[in-house]
Amino acid sequence: MDSFLIEGGVPLRGVIEVSGSKNAALPIIMASIAVDDVVTYTNVPDLRDIHTTIRLLNILGREASLENGVVTVRNGVLGMEAPYDLVKTMRASVLCLGPLLARLGEAKVSLPGGCAIGARPVDQHLFALEKMGTVFDLENGYIHGRCPRGLRGAHIRFDMPTVGGTENVLMAACLAQGETVLENVAREPEIVDLANFLIRCGAKIEGQGSTMIRVQGVESLHGCTYAVMPDRIEAGTFLVAAGVTGGELLLKNCPLDDMSAVVDKLRDAGMIIEKTEDGVLARTGEEGLKGVNISTRPHPGFPTDMQAQFMVLMCCAQGSGLVEENIFENRFMHVQELVRMGADIHVTGSSAMVRGGRRLAGAPVMASDLRAGAALVLAGLAAEGETRVQRIYHVDRGYERLADKLSAVGACIRRIKDPG
Ligand code: EPZ
Repeated sequence: MDSFLIEGGVPLRGVIEVSGSKNAALPIIMASIAVDDVVTYTNVPDLRDIHTTIRLLNILGREASLENGVVTVRNGVLGMEAPYDLVKTMRASVLCLGPLLARLGEAKVSLPGGCAIGARPVDQHLFALEKMGTVFDLENGYIHGRCPRGLRGAHIRFDMPTVGGTENVLMAACLAQGETVLENVAREPEIVDLANFLIRCGAKIEGQGSTMIRVQGVESLHGCTYAVMPDRIEAGTFLVAAGVTGGELLLKNCPLDDMSAVVDKLRDAGMIIEKTEDGVLARTGEEGLKGVNISTRPHPGFPTDMQAQFMVLMCCAQGSGLVEENIFENRFMHVQELVRMGADIHVTGSSAMVRGGRRLAGAPVMASDLRAGAALVLAGLAAEGETRVQRIYHVDRGYERLADKLSAVGACIRRIKDPG
């Protein structure tokens, strides 16, 4: 397994290009299952999860490949089974359920297990697809769905605005008979990007980005070429990197309009973030960083995927900040690792009180999940001395060429192989 070795204390200065969004690319590429044609995607990030998605499409019989940020998916005989050995490496594989049912009337997908940040059930996905006429059986850890007479439109209200559930059902509804109305849906920008892709393929969708989406089913979807939106979480991570190192970064392709909740909180904490004609400029203001409170919420609230990174900013600020995690039940795995670096953080239930004012000290730490790993990299960049972030395969899932991008703006960071 690889680690990142980081010598902290260098103010980062320069230009970073934001890559395509992992959380937009995964459902959008999976949606090719519902398209009876060749599909080409551009601005696709070169990430572990993208390679896993391509592997799944090939297992299902589609010819898929990634070349220099371009994914092409060609036609092929469509199988209907997503195997456990693949699904266990990427929970988002469950997003093949909706398009497979829509296209074939049958799907057999391994139930994704839990993960480090929580149980992450898929009950909302199943309940919605059942309302559209699917019968599910649980067979040896697989969910086997059948809708022999095809999916039919339904009026569905989710118990909570689930991102994956909204995506799965949106893809299914495009080829269902009749109208589907989805209420209490997720409003994330990645949902809008998926809807825009499906519309480009001939789907009839309206309301994406609001709390209600209406879909008129069509007979089939045709191919197209589509550019994936930039990654707002990767961008947010780099804004925090500028703040915690006391440097100044210019981000290219930064989707600022999709990042209001994060940018507002970064500005409240004392960062200066400006939109210029060259991109988004970020640095810490004259008065330095100060503690502010955040509470993670579904979009347009503060995104849970930026919670760990923001906590590192609070460690580097004067004063205290309360971090409340309302989306996942176990998303504070980074806290104990930060405490090992000298952070003053006390967790009570779903809240963490962060007291800043002390310089973090480098230490060997371990990534437990994607965003916790990213947060530990940020902490290493800010800390005095050397930090070794282990198990960075978690980070490779969601950050394209992270060490290269950070080194290019002055960071002392390199990837090393762990012995054994
Ligand atoms: C997506 O996960 C993202 N992943 C996550 O990003 C992100 O943290 C999450 O949305 C919330 O924004 C991708 O897009 C690939 P949810 P998803 O369904 O779809 C509960 C990252 O770091 N729930 O919106 O799995 C669930 O337990 C990853 O890039 C049910 O109870 O998230 C959770 O508490 C991590 N039943 C809450 O809803 C269901 O059927 C939000 O989950 C579905 C969800």
